[in-house]
Amino acid sequence: MPSNVHRVIPETTMGIPEAPDRLFILDSTGPHYDTAQILARLKQDDVVLVPNVDAAAVDGLICEIAERLNLKDSLELQAAFASSLGHRKNIGQYYMSVNERKHYHIVPPHSEGSSFVNLQIASFYCYENTTDGGETIVMNVDESSPVWDSLREHRVRGRFERPPTKAEIARARTLYRLNLPSDSLQTGDQIISRNKVDANLTVFNVLAKPSKSYSCILEQQRYGYWDSVMAVDRDSLKFMEQFLKQEGLLKEPPDYQGPEQLDWDSSRRLMNSGIDYDQLFKCKISIKLKPQDFLIQNNFSWTHSVNNWTPGTGVRKVAAAFA
Ligand SMILES: [Fe+2]
Repeated sequence: MPSNVHRVIPETTMGIPEAPDRLFILDSTGPHYDTAQILARLKQDDVVLVPNVDAAAVDGLICEIAERLNLKDSLELQAAFASSLGHRKNIGQYYMSVNERKHYHIVPPHSEGSSFVNLQIASFYCYENTTDGGETIVMNVDESSPVWDSLREHRVRGRFERPPTKAEIARARTLYRLNLPSDSLQTGDQIISRNKVDANLTVFNVLAKPSKSYSCILEQQRYGYWDSVMAVDRDSLKFMEQFLKQEGLLKEPPDYQGPEQLDWDSSRRLMNSGIDYDQLFKCKISIKLKPQDFLIQNNFSWTHSVNNWTPGTGVRKVAAAFA
């Protein structure tokens, strides 16, 4: 039996099939890794796992992959911003801690970031994973699913009262993360709040229809099931709770009353999409990461998620890098 077989949790009766054939395991002793092969597997839309990567080598490995994809600037930018919001810390040169969660909190599937940031790759590196949970579940997004019509993304939009100067456009990008004119308020946007920030510019928070952006790995325009899509939908939390229950991966708190107790950021949830999440995802791969495991995936086509664990059963230290 190959040494990796025990990693993949067997398929259950869920609607999202386990797809162990989509996980490519690169057996390599390092310190030099066959990044051309990793890239080739990403182009086939597989997820790649490299076991036994020394912590001292992981920055070099992700850097080489990012360079091959012309994403090194993005990798460096993400690392630089890692701790700026206060909930992540840098680990090494390019990796950062994952968001801190309270006891029993789960992370529903999502692609990192938003359509504004447009991150292409997501990578995880495991230092320790000894809890009775902490399973990583990556899910492959169905690009042609009908449910995209019912999803919404939390976006920032802008509207100028008169034609803007170049300086005003640059200022809007820096201060409000607005790419104008493409981020202008659009028909169909559901306005949550508005703020007239100066004499010329009004900034809106809206729920917008998902839009496609470019995947440099797949070389096509794709929908991303971004964090900014997942986080606004109460039904994404309910889906994950049910999914984990059926997979036998949910750890219920002693006084468990419902999925809201598992939510690490309920303040962002604004709507119920009503979608059948089994229609959004084509397949999944479930992995209990081991120390020195390096995982990399296309951040457009594969979401990542984590189940919870019983407090006190161990330590989960997994670092993430994005570009
Ligand atoms: Fe994430």
